[in-house]
Amino acid sequence: MSLPQLPPFPASRPRRLRRTAALRRLVGEVTVRPSDLVLPMFVREGIDEPVPIGSMPGVVQHSLDSLAKAAREAVTAGVGGVMLFGVPEHKDARGSGADDPDGILNVGLRRLRDELGDDTVLMADLCLDEFTDHGHCGVLDERGGVDNDATLERYAAMGLAQAAAGAHLLGTSGMMDGQVAAVRQALDAAGHVDTGILAYAPKYSSGFYGPFREAVNSSLQGDRASYQQDATRTVADALAEVALDVGEGADVVMVKPALPYLDILRAVADASPVPVAAYQISGEYAMVEAAVANGWLDRERVMLETLTSIRRAGASVILTYWASEAATLLR
Ligand code: PBG
Repeated sequence: MSLPQLPPFPASRPRRLRRTAALRRLVGEVTVRPSDLVLPMFVREGIDEPVPIGSMPGVVQHSLDSLAKAAREAVTAGVGGVMLFGVPEHKDARGSGADDPDGILNVGLRRLRDELGDDTVLMADLCLDEFTDHGHCGVLDERGGVDNDATLERYAAMGLAQAAAGAHLLGTSGMMDGQVAAVRQALDAAGHVDTGILAYAPKYSSGFYGPFREAVNSSLQGDRASYQQDATRTVADALAEVALDVGEGADVVMVKPALPYLDILRAVADASPVPVAAYQISGEYAMVEAAVANGWLDRERVMLETLTSIRRAGASVILTYWASEAATLLR
């Protein structure tokens, strides 16, 4: 964009349109609708009462009952969807709980689908890190690296279990090459042609995922830099990942994290042929909540400002831990 040619002051006085709330409302452009928001939720196996997540004040690991209740409240508030993560009691090297129909994530999905039917969009995190004892997003090879192609088989099985449990959209978040195609092919072969894929693309290796580790009781040592994207790469790397995922059958693509990557979000939104989502992740939430707890930020104001910024950068859909509350404020 080039700079506009405007008559100089005093002919131009931009403050005229900022003078009253009514004027600002009239010329306001970017709006966030409750139905654009998606609430990420955690369901933990073997608990009867919700367990607070210390680094995410106000967010909990749900029991099955509290999950159903909170999801219903989110839908009543006008939220457009929920994204479910599972926290299993037992983890192992291959993440067996992920594709077990009795695994907590699949049980939670069935419960939500029974409870909510098609009233909201039910999404499932499709990744192994919540289920593996080493905390990586895939299975490991004999040298301890994440084995891409062996992981694809696990993702395909996981996708089938989630589709059978009633998820509308599967969130492929593990950043294995070929993961969208592997899941799409498995779904189609089993007749789940209407189950969609929300592909995390681009997804960056980020320090802002920190609180999520506590949220899913992760035992990860080290990081995910060998599979998640590198923040020092420019937008071409982001668009390449989006192109691959769309080519493999992604129905929606999602940029993650959101706030530190708004430049990437803008570029993806301009180029993507499919709807674009953005995930305001655990660390983005935690840093605002921590400042609010110190009395340093106005919570509601900053909450809505961040969501507006993500929307302005081009996201049609926003995943945020504030979804229910923001939806209520925005109505
Ligand atoms: C992978 C996954 C993660 C998040 C969403 N899906 C963890 C990771 O990539 O390390 C993070 C969400 C958040 O931080 O709020 N299962």
